[in-house]
Amino acid sequence: MLVKARGLYLNAGGRIIYAVEHFCLRKGEVLALVGPNGAGKTSLLLTLARLQEPTGGTILFDGEIAEKHNLIAMRRRMAVVFQEALLLNTTVAGNIMTALRVRGVPRRVAAARTQEWLAHFGIEHLAHRPARQISGGEAQRVNLARALALAPDVLFLDEPFAALDYPTRNELISKLGEILKVTGTTTLFVTHDFTEIPAFADRVAVMFNGKIIKEGKTAEVFSGEILKRISWVPWDV
Ligand SMILES: Nc1ncnc2c1ncn2[C@@H]1O[C@H](COP(=O)(O)OP(=O)(O)OP(=O)(O)O)[C@@H](O)[C@H]1O
Ligand SMILES: [Mg+2]
Repeated sequence: MLVKARGLYLNAGGRIIYAVEHFCLRKGEVLALVGPNGAGKTSLLLTLARLQEPTGGTILFDGEIAEKHNLIAMRRRMAVVFQEALLLNTTVAGNIMTALRVRGVPRRVAAARTQEWLAHFGIEHLAHRPARQISGGEAQRVNLARALALAPDVLFLDEPFAALDYPTRNELISKLGEILKVTGTTTLFVTHDFTEIPAFADRVAVMFNGKIIKEGKTAEVFSGEILKRISWVPWDV
């Protein structure tokens, strides 16, 4: 178990944003967290990625309890990708280099790794372009390449394909699926779109009204009875 949480909850704006009794992310798996808008998916992801303090509960990361003193050390073992690429105002290659250098990777190693990840995402030709001038689809490739170049122990993805057009989205879903399989990166993938899941998730957790109401292997969730139930329960309760 790489990430585990017990009795995790967040109160904000006078209400409960999420309340999750048990959560676990196993080493090497891709877990999809699905649910409608406002279910609390992003809030839970931000807490697990240690970007937002919960109101209560415990998070264990690789067996260690998350506390103030280990915040930075834990953050350095994670990478987060949001719907918006949030690229720095430098070149495409500079964005990846900077992320690696900030984490203490030596310059030469960082340069080689940058080239490698630009190639994995088919964007070597963009290396010297200003990152703020490329298209949304290109920017999201850079964003994913930057995150994976860090070789994180855990990768958090929050609706990474939501702003992309259909062909780009499909291409990136299968590309990322391949990469996650090859690298064995432990991943929490948040989406409100069921169609994105079968391509690469091992397990699925369904979130509704701040609670995880169902969990299972993707193959089970996406076949027979469970699929029927899961396809109406979250949205019609
Ligand atoms: N700090 C906060 N203060 C008040 N309300 C908040 C706060 N953070 C989140 N919320 C509310 O909590 C709910 C869950 O938000 P969250 O962004 O986690 O949902 P989500 O499942 O990611 O939705 P989406 O699919 O739209 O991204 C929303 O109603 C949101 O407005
Ligand atoms: Mg969200």
